[in-house]
Amino acid sequence: MRAALNAITDELKRLKASGVKSVVVSNESLATLQKVVRARAQRTTATTAVREQPAPLENRDVSSVPTSASKPPADVVAPARYEPPAPKFTVKAVAPTSASTLPPPPKVVLPAGDKQTRWDALLQLVLNDPVCKAHVRPGKKVVLGVGNLDARIFFCGEAPGAEEEEQGEPFVGPAGQLLTKMIQGMGLKRSDIYIGNIMNWRPELPVTGGSVQIGNRPPTPEEMAYCMPYLKAQLEVVNPEIIVALGSTAVQGLFGSGSFKTLGEIRSQWKLFAEKPVMVTYHPSYILRNPTNRSKRAIWEDLLKVMERASLPISEKQQNFFLEK
Ligand code: URA
Repeated sequence: MRAALNAITDELKRLKASGVKSVVVSNESLATLQKVVRARAQRTTATTAVREQPAPLENRDVSSVPTSASKPPADVVAPARYEPPAPKFTVKAVAPTSASTLPPPPKVVLPAGDKQTRWDALLQLVLNDPVCKAHVRPGKKVVLGVGNLDARIFFCGEAPGAEEEEQGEPFVGPAGQLLTKMIQGMGLKRSDIYIGNIMNWRPELPVTGGSVQIGNRPPTPEEMAYCMPYLKAQLEVVNPEIIVALGSTAVQGLFGSGSFKTLGEIRSQWKLFAEKPVMVTYHPSYILRNPTNRSKRAIWEDLLKVMERASLPISEKQQNFFLEK
């Protein structure tokens, strides 16, 4: 339960950092939070009795779920046992950089060949990565990016959510549907571009009373660092002209956690990653939480900059999207 509360606090901090001034809490969520507060109050008034009880159920639950803070089983992390499915390409461990709970990020080496051959090999590496596999619940999927391998524009999001880990594809939930509309607003189709994420698995939260994870948490810097070679490999294969970083987690993944205080500070600016220009903008879920013309116009102006840089035609209508109050 503590982990769930920490996750909520982290998410609220993250929203604040990305410029969100208020959040709407549903009656259902409010009732859940009230339950937590009541349970904590009861625990503090009955400390002695609780000390003699077995660990509360939710605490046992936490330890049984593979979270980022819990080490994957030893046989899973030992680099020597990492056997990629095909002999033509390899994943080797590189030196650990800090005291970590995850093994060092994989070193991805793709086979020579055309883009499809290299991407297919990458997909096999990711799907067979024991660390990625250890972080998805039974029945859920590890997720690699999708799209046109010749895309000129590469959208980079944060991490799979519930729908994405179900389907094994990025941006297929509500934020994904909005992203599709944004892409269409640019005069493009989803099949024209490539969509990837910083993370290849949905960052876990402890579940209580069942196996369904409610809500999402941002990935830790260590989790992002682990998945980074897979993102870089996708960039290497697709070789886009432009990257669009969607939201503060994507920016943290690309440029490091200390690279900015609030997303508003660096939004709408061009940065450089892997020698590619990166446009920093809001995550579509920001618009879902703040569906005002002001926030839509903000993200749209960033996309206009992308269109300009890619020399895509811009009609007067497109130029004026979301200008009306
Ligand atoms: N949000 C993301 O950042 N990525 C997804 O794949 C889905 C939602």
